Amino acid sequence: MPQIKAEDVSFSYGTKDVLSSVSLSIDGPSFVAFLGANGSGKSTFVRLIDGLLPLKRGEITVNGMSLKDGKKLYDIRKEIGFVFQDPDSQFVSPLLADDVAFGPENYGFDEKERDDSVSRSLSLTGLETYKNRLIETLSGGEKERAQLAGVIALSPSILIFDEAFAMLDGDGEEKLMTLISHFRENRIIIMITHDVLSALWADRVVLFSGGRIVKDGKPREILCDADYLMQIGIKPTLPSVIASKMRDMGVETGCVVTRDELEVLLWN
Ligand SMILES: Nc1ncnc2c1ncn2[C@@H]1O[C@H](COP(=O)(O)OP(=O)(O)OP(=O)(O)O)[C@@H](O)[C@H]1O
Ligand SMILES: [Mg+2]
Repeated sequence: MPQIKAEDVSFSYGTKDVLSSVSLSIDGPSFVAFLGANGSGKSTFVRLIDGLLPLKRGEITVNGMSLKDGKKLYDIRKEIGFVFQDPDSQFVSPLLADDVAFGPENYGFDEKERDDSVSRSLSLTGLETYKNRLIETLSGGEKERAQLAGVIALSPSILIFDEAFAMLDGDGEEKLMTLISHFRENRIIIMITHDVLSALWADRVVLFSGGRIVKDGKPREILCDADYLMQIGIKPTLPSVIASKMRDMGVETGCVVTRDELEVLLWN
């Protein structure tokens, strides 16, 4: 069972405190959205989890292995697939199929395992017909999917997306969410986002503000509260703002996040 445990984690870049006493535990498969304004510490936190930044204060374990144990870093990295915002910096081969095969080759897959994993990853990300394309000829959204293909080729038990899908169009985003839904059955998925509607797809939402976790719970409970989201610099959905105004006027609205929910409310 995949597992992440962070206890009392603090971090600073030089004298600038960026995380203060963050504790979080994810036990078993779950799709968790990290939501927070610019600079609230989300990327720093996941970089600590992946060992990309040195952990100095507090403790983090990944599948029972401590990030403070230098000997475990290689094994921890193997468990975590990290998808970054800037795909261009992540590719290692010019040709798509070679790039996706790079991870499996490095981790000692045999030829058949490697080829199976490459085909599976390309097909899951909808890129099978792009197999022999030069990556530099792919569009921004296709590059984002290509990066994801490279990451899932290793079947990591934990997937972290740090605002990785800024360039996907509406349809692409829907497909991606379906793909993520398919993975959430047996993995931990952490998705960093500013987008309330994407966070609604998650099992759990963790809100970051000023280097702390300020809320942690079911998406609807957290995303309904337009006033609080605005207060910490997150843009709530327009329907949730309208519902909040209606509540100010004494109307009982219940939880409203999406357009459909607002329509139902207005019809009633
Ligand atoms: N290498 C660095 N050196 C100094 N300060 C940094 C460095 N990286 C990040 N910071 C600062 O740390 C704070 C938290 O940054 P972080 O990238 O974790 O935020 P974030 O929540 O991911 O924000 P965003 O939503 O904009 O990606 C910011 O104020 C940022 O300026
Ligand atoms: Mg960030």
